[in-house]
Amino acid sequence: MKLPAFKLERFFAKYEFKAPYLLSSSDCEAMTIEELLSLEPDAAQRFHQTWLGYTETQGNPELRQAIAQTYQTIDIEQILVHAGAEEAVFIFMNIALQPGDHLIVHFPCYQSHSTIAQSIGCEVSGWMGCEANHWELDLDWLRGAIQPNTRAIVINCPHNPTGYVMSRAKLEELIAICREHNLLLFSDEVYRFLEYRDEDTLPAACDLYENAVSLGVMSKPYGLAGLRIGWIATHNQEIYRAMAEFKDFTSICNSAPSEFLSTLALRNRDKIIQRNRAIIAANIERCNEFFSHHADFFNWAAPKGGSTAFPSLKRSIDVEEFCIDLVNQQGVLLLPGPYFDYGKQNFRLGLGRKNLPTCLEKLENYLKAIAA
Ligand SMILES: Cc1ncc(COP(=O)(O)O)c(C=O)c1O
Repeated sequence: MKLPAFKLERFFAKYEFKAPYLLSSSDCEAMTIEELLSLEPDAAQRFHQTWLGYTETQGNPELRQAIAQTYQTIDIEQILVHAGAEEAVFIFMNIALQPGDHLIVHFPCYQSHSTIAQSIGCEVSGWMGCEANHWELDLDWLRGAIQPNTRAIVINCPHNPTGYVMSRAKLEELIAICREHNLLLFSDEVYRFLEYRDEDTLPAACDLYENAVSLGVMSKPYGLAGLRIGWIATHNQEIYRAMAEFKDFTSICNSAPSEFLSTLALRNRDKIIQRNRAIIAANIERCNEFFSHHADFFNWAAPKGGSTAFPSLKRSIDVEEFCIDLVNQQGVLLLPGPYFDYGKQNFRLGLGRKNLPTCLEKLENYLKAIAA
């Protein structure tokens, strides 16, 4: 299979480690190994004793136990740990889809949700969120888009980049549609637990539907992207077995130090998630202020969950030119919407990093300079 460039990753490869003010990252504020180990008194000693041989291909049982606790109906045999969420997306698409299959993808989307399927030879339809209505998804559109060769639906709530979270009633209706048409539901839940109100946290799709695959990761709610630990949870044994067999040709098994540190983080998940939700809440307040002062320049609506938002320019400036000039002039990195194949006005803004207020000050300087 030949894959085209992952546009967002190529853009980040150019700027992410050079630009001093990252205002478009999707992960939450990270921490050091030392900070993580300090969460439990004997953790440092246990970490030093971690055995560096091959690990269990499904994932360390203690880690899978800690992951299982984030679901209602899932046990450790239904969790398969991967090298980040990205590996799991790649493997799912490869085992679930055949050339000629049709896939419906929540749109705008994280590129691997659509590109891998297209590269396999599938037809992909974008299920477009309605920007004018808080990126709402329309189930009637979905019903009309299902074809005899539709194999799966991909959703992502909380959504990257828009921060959309569907209602529980909508999720249940969506699952009823999947059941009726015998469709797989790939539910990318990597931003789950970053909803701003507890009542907006959806049940995991795998807890509601026997043919759903839920995707989770340490990168986003836990801010531990460098561990490269992600997982799927599913009741569908056929999908599980096929993914485990495919993984023998990719990462085989996971990094033992990362599994240790992920298990530690998950045992302390409430503390870490509360810290990250507090950072996001403060950043949203700061953004609300900033964008209300610049209502002539930007459209802004606070998202409902996750660590990203997708505001837009009101001016008829090309957003990519705007972002590139901004990073060159002030070192502030925003991600242009065209990297999500969406329009020419939107850009992704990251809400999970502590230095967002400084980044906004730099953005303010830029706006003053171009207005002068
Ligand atoms: C929606 C979504 N899914 C999957 C991933 C991949 O996560 P990771 O890079 O931690 O593997 C990302 C990363 O940005 C994402 O936003």
